[in-house]
Amino acid sequence: MKDQPDSSTASNITSESEKFNQLNQKNQQALLGGGEKRIEAQHNKGKLTARERLDLLLDKNSFQEIGKFVEHRSHEFGLEKQRYLGDGVVTGYGRIQGRLVYVFSQDFTVFGGSLSEAHAEKIVRIMDLAMKNGAPVIGLNDSGGARIQEGVVSLGGYADIFYRNTLASGLIPQISAVMGPCAGGAVYSPAITDFVLMVEKTSYMFVTGPNVVKTVTHEEVSSEELGGALTHSSKSGVTHFRDANELQCIQRIQKLLSYIPQNCEEDPPLLPYQTKPDEARPMLDNIVPENPNQPYDMREVVSGIVDQDSFLEVHQDYAENIIVGFARLGGCSIGIVGNQPASLAGVLDINASKKGARFVRFCDSFNIPLLVLEDVPGFLPGTDQEWNAIITNGAKLLYAFSEATVPRVTVITRKAYGGAYDVMNSKHIGADMNFAWPSAEIAVMGAKGASEIIFRREIAEADNPEEKLNEKIEEYTQTFANPYRAASRGYVDEVIFPYNTRAKLLQAFQMLENKVDRIPKKKHGNIPL
Ligand code: HXC
Repeated sequence: MKDQPDSSTASNITSESEKFNQLNQKNQQALLGGGEKRIEAQHNKGKLTARERLDLLLDKNSFQEIGKFVEHRSHEFGLEKQRYLGDGVVTGYGRIQGRLVYVFSQDFTVFGGSLSEAHAEKIVRIMDLAMKNGAPVIGLNDSGGARIQEGVVSLGGYADIFYRNTLASGLIPQISAVMGPCAGGAVYSPAITDFVLMVEKTSYMFVTGPNVVKTVTHEEVSSEELGGALTHSSKSGVTHFRDANELQCIQRIQKLLSYIPQNCEEDPPLLPYQTKPDEARPMLDNIVPENPNQPYDMREVVSGIVDQDSFLEVHQDYAENIIVGFARLGGCSIGIVGNQPASLAGVLDINASKKGARFVRFCDSFNIPLLVLEDVPGFLPGTDQEWNAIITNGAKLLYAFSEATVPRVTVITRKAYGGAYDVMNSKHIGADMNFAWPSAEIAVMGAKGASEIIFRREIAEADNPEEKLNEKIEEYTQTFANPYRAASRGYVDEVIFPYNTRAKLLQAFQMLENKVDRIPKKKHGNIPL
């Protein structure tokens, strides 16, 4: 009988509790990253720490950390004396709205979040797990780039990540939030991912910083101007979303994910929706102005069609002549591409074509049906556009629509002119359903331009050339500036009243929900890049 532990058991207990203490201490140490002073410095810059960001991003208590005690293996430049648990990146998995995600969050308090060999290995592990298990990867980037003391192994680490970004593309959604510096080749990982988000004033991205720019091109430019959130959301289009602060940025990631499936084999999440007996939206009848040259805001058409407040616009400040974004129709996630008559008359130019093409390809990769709202006067003329390859870039949008196999529906609200008619998801390139409003004008070009070409001699020889021109414009308008020629050919399936558009689209997308379509088997296509 034993009522006292013998001495060996007592020492076991001591050593067990010492071991537990050691684990507790290590856990505590890991939570501190680069230490309290550096955490304070991070807060003073208006930035959250890597762990604080994950706390906000993930469902409560869902985060499971992987590689918490990983350290770097370097000995150069005194690094052997500076070791931090986790080595500047917090990695693991968790849940957002109950759905699995893999995450990494760079810790600027440890060597400025710079990427060492070990740091890269942690990210790579997360990406490999995400690809095998079919769930999104979200990267919160805040890093001074390659760990300078490590040299080429750090560059190798970046390449390992870029390679996986490419393998994961189209397989699982990849989202990059840039919440601090992101410079040098490090920018190429976010660039390969599906969506980039930036935070105003605290994040920037560039291949070479202002100092190098000054040396090479003699331009004086600040970091913000060169690669801040405003620059990349409006000028370059590198970032899809710009947010005022980190909290808003994190909330946007959560919202974005709600429209997207876990991987390319799944369908997007479906919200419960009871179709109402009356889905009429009379406000749609009053949007397109009488005068065909007067602009209107295609966002009004969007909000008249989709479930209330469900539109999440992507690339809002870039190439504003086209709008793209996610919305819900009867609870189903859809991707919307719409010409925007309120900006440059909705013309297609290089940037609009690239913006639209990238979005279409994302939706098609992840089984998100496409709705196209069309009011396009054509492609933008001019030397600037031609010399910068509107031909190749416009072809991107044409190619992207042509190879998309998701359900595709077009509504022509007004103009559908020239090559742009073909490009904007026409039935000829695989759209499943094509509706037109009575205000639609589907022709090779506008009535004035057309009349000036085909009736040039007749107009020149007329007693009153101006009167003759107007007469010919009227004739051309009567003949072609309507949807009925296209409808008589079956290019338009139905001419519908605007108020009825939502009801028609609910039916159409429901009819297409089991669509199966395949493009010919091949290694991969060669989109005109
Ligand atoms: C190692 C780094 C580091 C780096 C910053 N630190 N960047 N350590 N490698 N790349 C360390 C600093 O020494 C400092 O350590 C801490 O991080 C914070 O840095 P600060 O300079 O004090 O912060 P701040 O003033 O906010 O400036 C941030 C910064 C600046 C703008 C990022 O640190 C900077 O310019 N870093 C170098 C950026 C760079 O050139 N990286 C290489 C890019 S080339 P202490 O101990 O003081 O806290 C590249 C190639 C990738 O990345 C190629 C892939 C193909």
